[in-house]
Amino acid sequence: MLDKNLKPFPDDFFWGASTSAYQVEGANLTDGKGPSCQDVKELPAGTASLDICADHYHRYKEDIALMSEMGFKMYRFSIAWTRILPNGTGEVNQAGIDHYNDVINCCLEHGITPLVTMFHFDMPDALDKRGSWGNRESVDWFVNYAKVLFQSFGDRVKYWLTINEQNMLTLVGPVIGTMHIPEGCTNVLKETYQQNHHMLLAQAKAMQLCHQMLPDAKIGPAPNISLVYPASCKPEDIQASQEFNAIRNWVYLDMAVYGIYNNLVWRFLEEHDATPDIVPGDMDIMKAAHPDFIGFNYYSTATVQKCPADFAVEGEADQQKGGAEAGYFMNAANPNLPKTEFGWEIDPMGYRNTMREMYSRYHLPMITTENGLGAYDTLEDGKVHDQYRINYLRDHIQQLRLAISDGVQMMGYLPWSALDLVSTHEGIRKRYGFIYVDTTDEQVGTLDRYRKDSFFWYKKVIATNGQDLSDLA
Ligand code: BG6
Repeated sequence: MLDKNLKPFPDDFFWGASTSAYQVEGANLTDGKGPSCQDVKELPAGTASLDICADHYHRYKEDIALMSEMGFKMYRFSIAWTRILPNGTGEVNQAGIDHYNDVINCCLEHGITPLVTMFHFDMPDALDKRGSWGNRESVDWFVNYAKVLFQSFGDRVKYWLTINEQNMLTLVGPVIGTMHIPEGCTNVLKETYQQNHHMLLAQAKAMQLCHQMLPDAKIGPAPNISLVYPASCKPEDIQASQEFNAIRNWVYLDMAVYGIYNNLVWRFLEEHDATPDIVPGDMDIMKAAHPDFIGFNYYSTATVQKCPADFAVEGEADQQKGGAEAGYFMNAANPNLPKTEFGWEIDPMGYRNTMREMYSRYHLPMITTENGLGAYDTLEDGKVHDQYRINYLRDHIQQLRLAISDGVQMMGYLPWSALDLVSTHEGIRKRYGFIYVDTTDEQVGTLDRYRKDSFFWYKKVIATNGQDLSDLA
């Protein structure tokens, strides 16, 4: 396709970036906050504790001022459920409400629109002990929490995201330490999809409640969407990619948008005796609920090939990438893509391909809620020369503009992450931020903030509304 009619970014485009509470705040048991599943699980390699992280809890004013200096129009952050309700249900912790009121007000004072993620991998430990999403009561727990959020912040927060990366929770939850599979469970797949069903129901009810309580607000899901390529043009590989696309991506959005279980996923679950138990009325609730937009995280694409029916899976298969499902699909290397130093494939054109496919399936406005390059950064004389990150972001923003020119309705671009924070698998050594935070995995450091080269570059991008993507002079 030719690019002679390149469209500009919309005037009201939301440039900004994202973080999540447990990865950035620190102060993990401060001011009445209860423990979440993240506080009791094994921490990412080398991470001493979640006491400090980037200390954003205490330094949010400085951080938001830096975001404002970059020209942010939107800041996506998550609220820690256990700051609001330390036990997940029951008494509200006023100190937690006060804290997020301060963060929201600080954003608004800087002209930054807050986008609040209600749940980002941090189930209250008290609810984890009661079975987490495996307990059907989790639907009510989440809706009760949502009600407190809408009541407390809905006068100022106009954009909400429900559950961050529900598909990753379902595919690799136990690896991120956020999916609770009861001991002795005999059908892990069924248990996993039962939990997934409860999350879908909780999300649908929260979206409905948002629309009832806050008619002016907009709410949407935030899955991680990576288009799945077939490893070849063999018909069986195409079929494998259709199946993994359905399992990895579409089942979440088909349900959020249309309230229907994807037929390929349903058949896959039937074959494994793993369909979730559905209570009469559940599907009506899902059908009646509608997102206003789709938030999605994009890092890379996946590639799969047909998996022989007699294939014996050995060791841990990468489920995010297709893993290996005998008779269905298995992860294949994509020889066309370079990798980050942490081994993640880099596919900017895949970003455009993903947006085109999503938009043609759902026809809703979309916003990228994560995208970015995790790398080992080095602070030298107060500077971080992260040209590799600039290159990565530029390549993706170019593809974003091409997708907009394709007619995809994009509301904004919020890369990961506004500032350095604790990576889910790699501690703070895997840095994503525009703002460098002086700390090590062991949490030794001044916690001072430094503007990386990408900070100045992104500032220029925002100031020109995405017109000038050239290198810094
Ligand atoms: C997304 C999550 O999956 O990827 C973030 O929403 C996470 O919480 C990000 O940090 C990057 O992954 P990682 O493992 O490099 O931190």
